[in-house]
Amino acid sequence: MESIIISKSPEETFILGERLGQKLEGGEVICLYGELGAGKTVFAKGLGKGIGVAEEITSPTFTLIQEYTSDLKKDIKFIHMDLYRLQYPEEAETIGVFDYFQEDCVCLMEWPELIADSIPADILEINIVGSGDLPREISLKSFGQMVLSDLMESANNT
Ligand SMILES: Nc1ncnc2c1ncn2[C@@H]1O[C@H](COP(=O)(O)OP(=O)(O)O)[C@@H](O)[C@H]1O
Ligand SMILES: [Mg+2]
Repeated sequence: MESIIISKSPEETFILGERLGQKLEGGEVICLYGELGAGKTVFAKGLGKGIGVAEEITSPTFTLIQEYTSDLKKDIKFIHMDLYRLQYPEEAETIGVFDYFQEDCVCLMEWPELIADSIPADILEINIVGSGDLPREISLKSFGQMVLSDLMESANNT
C-alpha cells in the first residue's frame, strides 16, 4: 500500500511527521529517503514531537545516532539516525544501528540506502522528493508487518 501526500511548506512536513509519530507504539523502523535538503530532518523533528519527545531534536549528522526518551509514552525511545557519514556498511554494526531495532524503540533512519543490504523486512518507507521552496511529494509505503492504513488514517486528514 502506498500513500502520497503533497507538502507545501516545512510546517506541513513537520505536521505530517507529528501525526505519524502520534500513531507509533515502539518497534517501528522507518526508512526515510530524500536528497540533501529534501526535508528529512524537518519530518524527523515532527515525528519526535508526535512521539512525545519534549527535548529539541537536532540533526544527528556528526553523532549518526541520537537517542531521545518520550515524555508521553514512557516506555518508548525515539532513535534518530542519520547514516550520511557512514564510511562503509559494516560500520553500522559497530555503531550499534541494529541494536536499536527493538520493541521499545521507534527508529527513524535518514540515508538508509547506505545499509541497503541490512534493512529489515518490516518497515515503513518514506520518500521525500523536491527541493528548495518547491512543494514536496512525500510517499509512504509499508512493507511486511507494518500496516500503513492504520498509521496513515489520521495523517491524511490534513
Ligand atoms: N515542503 C517542505 N518540506 C520540508 N522542508 C521544506 C519544505 N519547503 C522548504 N523546505 C526547506 O528545506 C530544508 C530541508 O532541510 P532538512 O530537513 O535539513 O533536509 P534533509 O534532512 O533532507 O537534508 C529546510 O530549510 C526547510 O525549511
Ligand atoms: Mg537531515
